Amino acid sequence: MGVKRKRKVIMFDVVGDRAIPKLNKTNCDVSNNVNSLINRWNGRAYTQRFYDILEKRKTLPVWHQKEEFLKALKDNQTLILVGETGSGKTTQIPQFVLETLELESRDKCNKYMIACTQPRRVAAMSVARRVAEEMDVNIGEQVGYSIRFEDCTSSQTVLKYLTDGMLLREAMTDPLLGRYNVIILDEAHERTLSTDVLLGLLKEVQKNRPDLKLVVMSATLEAEKFQGYFCGAPLMKVPGRLHPVEIFYTQKYEDDYVEAAIRTVIQIHTCQPPGDILVFLTGEEEIEDACRKIKKEIGNFGDSVGPALVVPLYSTLPPAMQQKIFDPAPSRLMPNGPAGRKIIVSTNIAETSLTIDGIVYVIDPGLAKRKVYNPRTRVESLIVSPISKASANQRSGRAGRTQPGKCFRLYTEKSFHNGLQSETCPEIQRSNIANTVLTLKKLGIDDLVHFDFMDPPAPETLMRALELLNYLGALDDEGNLTRLGEIISELPLEPQMGKMLVVSPELNCSNEVLSICAMLSVPNCFVRPRKAQKAADEAKARFAHIDGDHLTLLNVYHDYKQNNDDQSWCSENFVNYRVLKSADNVRQQLACIMARFNLKLCSTDLNSRNYYINIKKAMLSGYFMQVAHLERTGNYLTVKDNQVVHLHPSSRLNHKPEWVIYNEHVFTSKDFLRTVTDVRGEWLIDMAPHYFDLVNFPHCEAKRVLEKLYKKKERKADINTKKLSFRVTSGTCILV
Ligand SMILES: Nc1ncnc2c1ncn2[C@@H]1O[C@H](COP(=O)(O)OP(=O)(O)OP(=O)(O)O)[C@@H](O)[C@H]1O
Ligand SMILES: [Mg+2]
Repeated sequence: MGVKRKRKVIMFDVVGDRAIPKLNKTNCDVSNNVNSLINRWNGRAYTQRFYDILEKRKTLPVWHQKEEFLKALKDNQTLILVGETGSGKTTQIPQFVLETLELESRDKCNKYMIACTQPRRVAAMSVARRVAEEMDVNIGEQVGYSIRFEDCTSSQTVLKYLTDGMLLREAMTDPLLGRYNVIILDEAHERTLSTDVLLGLLKEVQKNRPDLKLVVMSATLEAEKFQGYFCGAPLMKVPGRLHPVEIFYTQKYEDDYVEAAIRTVIQIHTCQPPGDILVFLTGEEEIEDACRKIKKEIGNFGDSVGPALVVPLYSTLPPAMQQKIFDPAPSRLMPNGPAGRKIIVSTNIAETSLTIDGIVYVIDPGLAKRKVYNPRTRVESLIVSPISKASANQRSGRAGRTQPGKCFRLYTEKSFHNGLQSETCPEIQRSNIANTVLTLKKLGIDDLVHFDFMDPPAPETLMRALELLNYLGALDDEGNLTRLGEIISELPLEPQMGKMLVVSPELNCSNEVLSICAMLSVPNCFVRPRKAQKAADEAKARFAHIDGDHLTLLNVYHDYKQNNDDQSWCSENFVNYRVLKSADNVRQQLACIMARFNLKLCSTDLNSRNYYINIKKAMLSGYFMQVAHLERTGNYLTVKDNQVVHLHPSSRLNHKPEWVIYNEHVFTSKDFLRTVTDVRGEWLIDMAPHYFDLVNFPHCEAKRVLEKLYKKKERKADINTKKLSFRVTSGTCILV
């Protein structure tokens, strides 16, 4: 192979007689439900598939410690469980709990459920499907999942996989999480914002609910830290995995990791035995580009190599496209020809939890895009940076799940040991936490400074969040949640977007703003196939609105609806049908929440000159802190923070307005503003005078322009007062 690597240690215990204790009689006994021929959950006879899977399940390492686990759970309120990747934590532990736990409440009035959180949607969905299959029930019935804007559960659901963010949302309406008697926080090592808040919250809830059990799980956890946090909760370790994973390192540093990854894929495909490949890269563009190159290079080999199915995976890919990672590898072209192979190129969303049947090879360049937040500039950016050792172990753990695997790390062994941090820095310390603060306030936690965070956010980050929420009117000057804040907190949107939606009925444009919110909540709807780029650009130009991208999105949505949600209309116009369908669904869900708060759906007359003005004003009411001003130099500067920024090339704005509001400030090759719309300076001081108060304004061109606008406004007000007094004193004269 061109990438020279020395064969390295087998990092994981190879399963042999010694590695996994033999099953003893007690833990061989499966529960009553499994011994019966009838499935207790749906009253139907078990299918053959159930028994087939059961045999495999019984060989998973966690099964050997089933009794021990159940006893520990019975004796303790909180339990920390660390078991290697693929040992059966996510799929088996909730089922063990289900088999033994009394789901009916003591007064027999309620039925309890078990929740198992996942940091990512793909994982929550796929694990729920697998467990439904293992339990021989239909997904959405006894086993379901809940992710933002998609609830696949029913009144029969007893085991729910859900994103940590969704559980947090549930806590807002049910502060004691009364419907659950066991909550499992899975993949706790990821330390996502929501998991960290849940940890603190559940610790509090448990004081009021001694019956609520908590299991914190991961393969790569700083167990002692978690034990310390949970006042000495017992730690259970599950050694062993079903299949070994061999780790290989490169001998020297790879300059171009994308090129090295592609080269390794080709070498595996041409030289290694059958088995699918999972490659980790950092972002959408890089992944799409790598997929193209891999297809092209494999195509160059003709029939001398097996057929390949190359599939991208990243978070903004529509869910249906994400499901393609579970498609089977293509069959051989000829009976004795080389085997087909599936090659998945993914961001770190495939790093934890997922089992993709058939994956044998993992390629890990050791990098990922990580969120970084600078509270001073209020910019959250995604920076490509080295992963942690915990992430590297998770990545290698995607191989060896259904058969032995190999992981090719495109970095040296020395850099693994000396260059990588052992854990990923908690997200709460590198994110904008405005939404989290709002959630905590809604949960009744007023003293945020003393909230029991495992690792608290930086004080400046907390101040920034409080400041934003106060400017929005979601918190009053004492830091208490206002009525507006309560409504915003119920909307599954960022606070600024929530505010614009809540304000929109007053500006008579809630129908349109709701559509814009829905379009902003789904992945990019525009498609640009490589072979039809010109046609796609022309199609996109037809939707373009002169005032900017938000209104362009509104045009797309309106046209889609006017064409009766037609799929062929979508393909003719180079917009993704599934994305628009999902936007429609999001819109309906948001509309239901609006109805709960009596926020009416209304529109200004399309022919009125205020039609677009009202929409833009509503947007500004939420995003007044995200405004940029065009300087005489031709550059945009963000207002107050004075960062030089550029309009993103994807923007449909074909001119440079003096003032723009933006939805996102992203840093890639440059500082870019994405999704921008033209607004007027006068509106800034009319709609958010508390923010555009020039006393606290840094010296800049924007300030001078605003000063003039204030003066103009004062003059106007003076004239109006004079007119009014003239009218009052004269009593007869009517002035316009
Ligand atoms: N969809 C699936 N298809 C086939 N086998 C599966 C599937 N899901 C799980 N398995 C089997 O069950 C095993 C345990 O999976 P599970 O997700 O419970 O492990 P885990 O301990 O949670 O791993 P991780 O730490 O990586 O999340 C897998 O290694 C695999 O053998
Ligand atoms: Mg798992």
